[in-house]
Amino acid sequence: MNIIPIMSLTHLPLPEGVSWEETAPIRAAVHPTEAPAVARAVPSRRAEFASARACARKALRRLRTEWGSIEIPRRDDGAPDWPDGVVGAISHCDGLHAAAVAFTETTVALGLDVEPALALPTSVTGLVLNDAERRSLLAAGAIDTVGFSLKEALFKAWWPRTGVWLDFTDAEVEAFPDGTAHMRVRRSHPHWPHDGARLRWHVDHRHIRTIAWLPGTMTSHWTSGP
Ligand SMILES: CC(C)(COP(=O)(O)OP(=O)(O)OC[C@H]1O[C@@H](n2cnc3c(N)ncnc32)[C@H](O)[C@@H]1OP(=O)(O)O)[C@@H](O)C(=O)NCCC(=O)NCCS
Repeated sequence: MNIIPIMSLTHLPLPEGVSWEETAPIRAAVHPTEAPAVARAVPSRRAEFASARACARKALRRLRTEWGSIEIPRRDDGAPDWPDGVVGAISHCDGLHAAAVAFTETTVALGLDVEPALALPTSVTGLVLNDAERRSLLAAGAIDTVGFSLKEALFKAWWPRTGVWLDFTDAEVEAFPDGTAHMRVRRSHPHWPHDGARLRWHVDHRHIRTIAWLPGTMTSHWTSGP
């Protein structure tokens, strides 16, 4: 296993062992085993899929050089099918594509999300955040969209571990001014330690970046995902 130094490519302080890569949209090829996922997609969707996967390969290459050209098929549930011994996630939004990966020796689950740094539509806010969550985001100096993004990042870490759907109201976020956050998940699952997730967020003039992860080593207790 390579040792990944803590990096802050994004001004988002990364957990130890996490390799994060991001890019403005780039032209990239879709690899053969990835192609079925976007066979019927419109060109813009194919383009974001390919660009974000190119990012993911760069992030993987930092873990293991030969993974710089590996194929990352899409699982039936939509999650990326990472190489054995790797957890990770992909996100794309207007102007930014990102991926983060880590070895299961350091990280049990990993999710990330990127969003434009714009207000959430009012029609969405009430579905995603309750009043207490909105108060905590305001006190932390974060717009509501940060709360939305933290929940999306959490879901991308949670789902591959549990296979259980989570509504936005199934988790309650509390954000802090130092760029960390706490997420209370109202559902319990044997593959998810209660209150175990760590979260960070960062906003620059254009984008929100969030990350959610379960630190630790995938021991025999953790090996069996759904
Ligand atoms: C799946 C979901 C999180 C994707 O987020 P999004 O903002 O729509 O889009 P993003 O660009 O950020 O992420 C898309 C990527 O998520 C990944 N993804 C899709 N389904 C996934 C799943 N079930 N588990 C993990 N990752 C998944 C894929 O890599 C996808 O990109 P790709 O198809 O190009 O590979 C979102 O569509 C969703 O269903 N949200 C509802 C569930 C939720 O967030 N609940 C909140 C719980 S507190």
